[in-house]
Amino acid sequence: MVSRIGILTGGGDCPGLNAAIRAIVRRADLGNVSTYGFRAGWRGVLQGSVEQLTISSTRGLLHRGGTMLGTSRVDPYREERGPERIREALEVYRLDGLVVIGGEGTLAASHRLAEDEGLPILGVPKTIDNDVGGTDLTIGFLTAVRTATEAVDRLHSTAESHDRVMVLEVMGRHAGWIATYAGMAGGADAILVPEVPFDIDAVGRHLKHRAGMGRDFSIVVVAEGALPKEGTLELEAPPLDEFGRPKLGGIGHTIAHEIEQRTGFPARVTILGHVQRGGSPTPMDRVLATQMGVKAAEFAMDGAWGTMTAYRDNGVVPIPLAEATAHLKTVPADLFAVAETFFG
Ligand code: F6P
Repeated sequence: MVSRIGILTGGGDCPGLNAAIRAIVRRADLGNVSTYGFRAGWRGVLQGSVEQLTISSTRGLLHRGGTMLGTSRVDPYREERGPERIREALEVYRLDGLVVIGGEGTLAASHRLAEDEGLPILGVPKTIDNDVGGTDLTIGFLTAVRTATEAVDRLHSTAESHDRVMVLEVMGRHAGWIATYAGMAGGADAILVPEVPFDIDAVGRHLKHRAGMGRDFSIVVVAEGALPKEGTLELEAPPLDEFGRPKLGGIGHTIAHEIEQRTGFPARVTILGHVQRGGSPTPMDRVLATQMGVKAAEFAMDGAWGTMTAYRDNGVVPIPLAEATAHLKTVPADLFAVAETFFG
């Protein structure tokens, strides 16, 4: 019988993590299961940084951004004896299992730990990038879309006043979900995403065509991970961050410069950056995180280790972590085609 579970949040933070933690604790408590929160993702498990969570210590969290547990991009497979130390921590704290709230990297490590080491781990998908497989939504995505859409709306009025091209760069490392949704919701004139390599000459021609029809301003939304068609534009290789991952951000400047060169239209750049990751979750993200958290606690109490909570048909179901981590979920071509209908 399950009586003690651990919780951690790993990878980049996002709005809705606190709501999910609160929900897990509340539902577990109803089943007489105690919950223990590890600080700063896998680091807390490796270093034994843990605290008991209670209804009272998780009160007032629902609307708060960030994560009360802290987070990090520490990967147990890059740490000395990482998987073994995780097993030891579960034993030391007498935990029946671990609920891991994470994105692509954290869930991939969870899958390996569950599959290769047989550790009792259950995943909950979160990332503003919305690129985890097997689930229609990840916690945090919809809030990021709201923030990015508001930015598009604000840029619209100033673009129109000055007859300028406004380039908005949003997050989206491997998938252009935020760019596509915010671009569609805000009526962008071009959207550049990693899934569809862009031709900067075609973008320039397209903006000139708009101007020819009397539309003297344009909005271009670009995902940080957008890529040019081979041989059309050279991008500088990004520097690496402290975890060896490419530190993205800045393609918006290149796009604006190249558009100015090709069209002669004045262009300005806004890089939204971590503003998208901060702040209070939208009502829908609070509901999603609450649904995911309650179901994660229930699946854990049922011993459904090796699975991840997936949002499908307005409900949450357990799917194998193997399925969730097999492929990144990218923007489908037919959705992007809908967005393209409005370019011009
Ligand atoms: O969590 C995903 C993400 O928001 C990506 O879209 C972005 O590239 C990355 O995190 C930035 O990470 P960091 O905050 O570690 O620089």
